Amino acid sequence: MESGSRVDGVATVLEARGIAKSYATPRGRLEVLRGVDLTVTRGTILAILGASGAGKSTLLNILGTLDRADAGTVLIRGRPVDPLRERELARFRANHLGFVFQFHHLLPEFSAEENVMMPLLISGRRPAEARARAQAALAAVGLAERWEHRPAELSGGEAQRVAVARALAPEPELVLADEPSGNLVCAGHPQ
Ligand SMILES: Nc1ncnc2c1ncn2[C@@H]1O[C@H](COP(=O)(O)OP(=O)(O)O)[C@@H](O)[C@H]1O
Ligand SMILES: [Mg+2]
Repeated sequence: MESGSRVDGVATVLEARGIAKSYATPRGRLEVLRGVDLTVTRGTILAILGASGAGKSTLLNILGTLDRADAGTVLIRGRPVDPLRERELARFRANHLGFVFQFHHLLPEFSAEENVMMPLLISGRRPAEARARAQAALAAVGLAERWEHRPAELSGGEAQRVAVARALAPEPELVLADEPSGNLVCAGHPQ
């Protein structure tokens, strides 16, 4: 990685300092996050654990620039995201981040392959390259045979695997995943 701050010589991909967030509710403000600090270095897998309603999705949305904190700073590759406007943020997300949401959020009118191609096309890849990468990513999640299926023609777990392929295909520096395995059944551990 060519930019970004470093912790002990290891590149920092994501840094959050003093993140606070509250929501307005009919019964006043609901404080969800208070002074959250974290640092994610390149090549690390970080799991955030907490009870339902603890604020995990709220934090992930802020870290992924989908929502803004009330206070604090998010730096991705050493760059504060706060000053970026919506348009710049959208480009930044497309170029550097991959998202897997709790519910797959695939586009219903497009095939599995087209869904995986979408972020690649948005970030400027040629259609032939986007298609080849999408095919490889679908094969990597065991869905090479399902590329023509639309989301409604996939099982819940298959749709979630397409969402994983979509997040990974552009090889982003950072993948943010919100309970991504909720729909997946692991061998030997049926849910
Ligand atoms: N837009 C919102 N307005 C008001 N309260 C919200 C909103 N989004 C989430 N909350 C509340 O904030 C808390 C944290 O939610 P969330 O981050 O989704 O939790 P988690 O992902 O850990 O289950 C919950 O108590 C939830 O009810
Ligand atoms: Mg959540």
